[in-house]
Amino acid sequence: MIKYIEKTPSAEEFNYLTDSVGWGIRENSVVETALKNTLYSLCVYDDNKLIGYGRIIGDKTIFLYIQDIIVIPEYQNKHIGTRIMENLLTQINEYKKINPNIRTYLGASKGKESFYVKFGFISRPNEDLGSGMILY
Ligand SMILES: CC(C)(COP(=O)(O)OP(=O)(O)OC[C@H]1O[C@@H](n2cnc3c(N)ncnc32)[C@H](O)[C@@H]1OP(=O)(O)O)[C@@H](O)C(=O)NCCC(=O)NCCS
Repeated sequence: MIKYIEKTPSAEEFNYLTDSVGWGIRENSVVETALKNTLYSLCVYDDNKLIGYGRIIGDKTIFLYIQDIIVIPEYQNKHIGTRIMENLLTQINEYKKINPNIRTYLGASKGKESFYVKFGFISRPNEDLGSGMILY
């Protein structure tokens, strides 16, 4: 049975997910710190196996960032990614009670933009905003 649970996964579970979608793995201690500093973590389990994940990072009142939306390949295209996004957006609506003008960012992987457009996200640059930028 598929369950959506607000919970921090273990570093091993998280690395299993990122590896399964080709993003590779990181040192467990690095992952543990990142997850500990996360505002909101949503795990998707099929029985006891983690098969999906999404998280929100940010300051809770002005800026949020959606990160690491992952469904392992065997479970993709079954609307699990959609449910993950809906759960995160419900949580974001809770933060909006503090500041209705809170801004939520995300960086879509190449080719995944259309998945996020369904939830109201817009691409930049556009008429008003410059490019999203990144520092490696
Ligand atoms: C992107 C991802 C999270 C989508 O999850 P999913 O459970 O497979 O998606 P869903 O079944 O909920 O699909 C919802 C809709 O998005 C579309 N969609 C699914 N995967 C998509 C993709 N890779 N690109 C664009 N649209 C996609 C589906 O066709 C579906 O459209 P519909 O509502 O018109 O039928 C999943 O494919 C994944 O984990 N990919 C690898 C990791 C990744 O790239 N994550 C995103 C990082 S930005």
